[in-house]
Amino acid sequence: MQLKVQGLSVRYDQATVLNNAALEVGKGEVVGIIGPNGAGKTTLLRAIVGLVGWERESLKGTVGGKITLRGSVLLNGEEISHLPPNEIVRRGLVLCPERGRPFREMTVRENLEVGAYLARSKAVVEERLARVFELFPILEERQNQISGILSGGERTMLAISRSLMSDVQLLVIDEPSVGLAPLVKDLLCERIKDIHRMGITVPVTEQDIGFAFKLIQRSYVLSQGQMIASGTPEALLSDDMIRKTYLGL
Ligand SMILES: Nc1ncnc2c1ncn2[C@@H]1O[C@H](COP(=O)(O)OP(=O)(O)OP(=O)(O)O)[C@@H](O)[C@H]1O
Ligand SMILES: [Mg+2]
Repeated sequence: MQLKVQGLSVRYDQATVLNNAALEVGKGEVVGIIGPNGAGKTTLLRAIVGLVGWERESLKGTVGGKITLRGSVLLNGEEISHLPPNEIVRRGLVLCPERGRPFREMTVRENLEVGAYLARSKAVVEERLARVFELFPILEERQNQISGILSGGERTMLAISRSLMSDVQLLVIDEPSVGLAPLVKDLLCERIKDIHRMGITVPVTEQDIGFAFKLIQRSYVLSQGQMIASGTPEALLSDDMIRKTYLGL
């Protein structure tokens, strides 16, 4: 599944959070979007999956302030920027949010089943459960536990797994490595590569350049709402200005 974003801009009242951003993710690619805190990574992903548009509509006339959203989001060449988030999920484009956010009072298994709410049959749900348990055996062991007691790493695994319970073709993951210990990061990096091998296209945002460069084939660099560079890790690292100013290396 292919994603093409053109001229995407988001403003909250007077603050421009995303300015004319463009990106392209080809079928079966693992692409990074790297940038520091506040660069606009989460906003970019939320705009792509229809959540900024939904926020703009649902907050209309309330205390939320004025949201301006412009630009084009093409999924396999089809414009989706006017669609509501649930319709975008139905088309196979799913966002795994930053820090997971599972329903804490629900068990691990219940959280996974929520992810499969569009599944046609129980057999499909079982098949997808088997897929995520193979990927993350710890979730199978913990399936009947309340999600609120999971560690940070397990929570991230649960969030990614919940996204995999839908008929996902293109999975955007918002900062998978945030708050995790080095060993857990390595494990997660391998599992995201496995997800990619399943044929799922994976754009991922990151602040951890080391983690990102182990995972991705190519990356965009986002700074203060603007895409300021893109290329392979080698190309980005060989540009002194980019390396010092934006990668902090
Ligand atoms: N709903 C909102 N209303 C007003 N401002 C917002 C809103 N959402 C995000 N912003 C602002 O947009 C900017 C970019 O935020 P965003 O969360 O997209 O950055 P980020 O790159 O994901 O940062 P982080 O690495 O900390 O997650 C920030 O200055 C933030 O305060
Ligand atoms: Mg963020």
